[in-house]
Amino acid sequence: MTVSVIVPAAGSGTRLGQSKPKAFVDLGGRTILEACVAGIVEAGVADTVVVVVPADLVDDARRLVPDTTVVAGGAHRSESVRAGIDAAGPDADILLVHDAARPLTPPAVFARVVDAVRAGHRAVVPGLPVADTLKQVDPSSGPERVVATVDRDLLRAIQTPQGFTRDALLRAHADDTGLATDDAGLAERCGIEVHVVPGDPLAMKITTPWDLRIARDIVAEAGSAGRVASERSEPAYRDHSSSAGRVASERSEPAYRDHSSAGDSSAGRVASERSEPAYRDHSSAGDSSAGRVASERSEPAYRDHSSADRLGDHPPEHRRHP
Ligand code: C5P
Repeated sequence: MTVSVIVPAAGSGTRLGQSKPKAFVDLGGRTILEACVAGIVEAGVADTVVVVVPADLVDDARRLVPDTTVVAGGAHRSESVRAGIDAAGPDADILLVHDAARPLTPPAVFARVVDAVRAGHRAVVPGLPVADTLKQVDPSSGPERVVATVDRDLLRAIQTPQGFTRDALLRAHADDTGLATDDAGLAERCGIEVHVVPGDPLAMKITTPWDLRIARDIVAEAGSAGRVASERSEPAYRDHSSSAGRVASERSEPAYRDHSSAGDSSAGRVASERSEPAYRDHSSAGDSSAGRVASERSEPAYRDHSSADRLGDHPPEHRRHP
């Protein structure tokens, strides 16, 4: 079976606050895009890779990732994916869609997704249990009013790569005006069953400056992005392949702690200091230097949780939930 991986990398990355699109930002000596493609190659599942970038960066991307097919993307992620599907051609039996913004995704996650598609599932996504208590709010009031507390045991934070049989992904994108934050969302709308396999904390999406900092710390800790991914993937795989869901989520906690405290021995202390000012920030109290740091970080995070996050870095005319 032929496997093609489509890498949407055409976002502007405005939430990252860098001067260039996210995929072209440095991550430990190479771009996020290069790290992402290296991760795909390391995973060893792909026969071909299609990279989708902003139109004005197609030539740059061809230089950075010469062994891939590079095409220009659209204004919305779903449009970029459709450009990738077209470029992938008719030969792939299995299509994976993998955000460039998740460059540290371990090979084992790719393997799980592809294995599940090969086993007969038409649409497969990696997902993680949710650690925080989640509340639905009415955002029209300020401070936002809580409407309900959602049962987190039934929720998963969904990552990429998302894997599809060719017919399933084509059907999901058959409506070329369809927009969603992921491809499984479009598949669901068509009545295609989507299945979840265990994801990995390392498949985190780099969206905010805080995410970039964590990713850079992880890379710096191990010396190279490739090594980080391989080292970390093994325990995560064991964690989530255990039969008891509760045990798996308990085990994933140290992995989170591990990543937030990556770097040197003092990093853990720094991380916990920072978590407190974030609270102060939301209550608009605190004016110390720590408070200011928190304030800088919390702003993108706040935007993250707004409708902008659900729709990514897309112009208003493409937003479904303005
Ligand atoms: O913006 P969001 O976080 O949803 O982006 C997820 C992935 O989709 C990123 O890798 C980004 O570069 C890509 N994307 C794209 N084309 C767009 C918007 C986002 O390829 N128009």
